[in-house]
Amino acid sequence: MAEQSIRALVSLDDGIDETTVRAALPQGKNLQVVGFLRGVEQSWSTLQETATDLLVIACSGYSERALSLIGGTAREHPALPIVVLSDSSPDGFLSRLFEMGADDVIRLPESPERVGFTLQKVVARRRAMSSAGGTGRGSMICVLGPKGGTGKTVTCSNLASALAGFGKRVTVIDLDLQFGDLALSMGVRPETTIYDLATSPGSVDADKLDAYLVPHESGARVLVAPTRPDQSAAVTVEFLREIYQIVRETSDFVVVDTSPGFSSEVISAIDASTDVCMLSMLDTLSLKNTRLGLETLDLMGYETARTVLVLNRADSRVGISDEDVDRIVGRKPEVRVPSDVQITRSVNEGRPIVLGRPKSEAAQSFQRLAEVFAARVGVGPAPEPATADKAEKSESKPRLHLLSRRQ
Ligand SMILES: Nc1ncnc2c1ncn2[C@@H]1O[C@H](COP(=O)(O)OP(=O)(O)OP(=O)(O)O)[C@@H](O)[C@H]1O
Ligand SMILES: [Mg+2]
Repeated sequence: MAEQSIRALVSLDDGIDETTVRAALPQGKNLQVVGFLRGVEQSWSTLQETATDLLVIACSGYSERALSLIGGTAREHPALPIVVLSDSSPDGFLSRLFEMGADDVIRLPESPERVGFTLQKVVARRRAMSSAGGTGRGSMICVLGPKGGTGKTVTCSNLASALAGFGKRVTVIDLDLQFGDLALSMGVRPETTIYDLATSPGSVDADKLDAYLVPHESGARVLVAPTRPDQSAAVTVEFLREIYQIVRETSDFVVVDTSPGFSSEVISAIDASTDVCMLSMLDTLSLKNTRLGLETLDLMGYETARTVLVLNRADSRVGISDEDVDRIVGRKPEVRVPSDVQITRSVNEGRPIVLGRPKSEAAQSFQRLAEVFAARVGVGPAPEPATADKAEKSESKPRLHLLSRRQ
């Protein structure tokens, strides 16, 4: 491997000795340390302003701060590789580092030669991936609904089909690992599932993943949920994180259907996503849960402007006005989907309504939803909505990760 000069930013967590870290790093022109920084805050702000090829985080023991910095960096600077130097590996810490998005972990003490080799390897691998991927990483839209039956699966199948209609590469993942019915709703045969992929021998790469995706008539490809609930245990959060990385390299849009609530796999999908589509319905309980869901996203540091609120069955005459929605949820929905028996029919037929009855009001709503997400990355016919505009300009901040607070 031809060695290349790497500009690295080194973040020192509390408790780690600077001389130990300096001694571990190779000398010479192949590694240029652009800064030694103390603590997450300083590291984060310097990261925004400094041109760098690599973030090195040195920590000692189990460090929530390091995990939070990795998570925020992986999301806000997805192209930047991250290597962790650690002088100990407490229980569970190593897997959490990878879960959060670290590319590699080096256990100190280690010779500067081996450290240098690992840093070169990680940067070279990332460069190779981005030149192979060409356009970089696609959007990942996580479709959420705090309660069951709010229309997540219907929305996913229609959103994915409408985005594929823009001529984009779309992959849709059924993350409802126990009772996923996206395949049924889209009318694809579950010949290969995420369970088959997770239990297949060897590691996963883009070609292998490709073989497990089931094509849909819209042009989208589906990673189908396990066919039996007991198979869900084989699909771990670590495996999912790996899949998200690969699938975003090979898709313009990744749409993720989820199970109700904030399970650990749903949280990992939110962490890896660029956008959230939050589903709500017109009843007080659903609206209240939507508010809780939005508050939870806020706690995770998920920028409000990256969330699109969809009010499903929005025309039902149930005595709840627009003002009530605004008051209970705290914001107005961007898209409303009417209650329409044709939606139920389209689910039963296994054909998304945007394909089966594209002129219906419901299909037009899903089309608008797709346009909102497409406009965020400059695709599709719709003008960019105010919220997306704000997202572009808003200050980046590291996101706290609920997963990282769980232990
Ligand atoms: N706007 C609508 N008009 C009529 N029927 C609808 C509408 N939205 C959803 N449905 C029906 O409601 C049912 C539940 O929808 P869906 O499966 O998409 O919900 P979900 O949020 O994925 O549920 P779960 O949490 O169980 O996965 C479906 O049978 C669908 O046909
Ligand atoms: Mg569902």
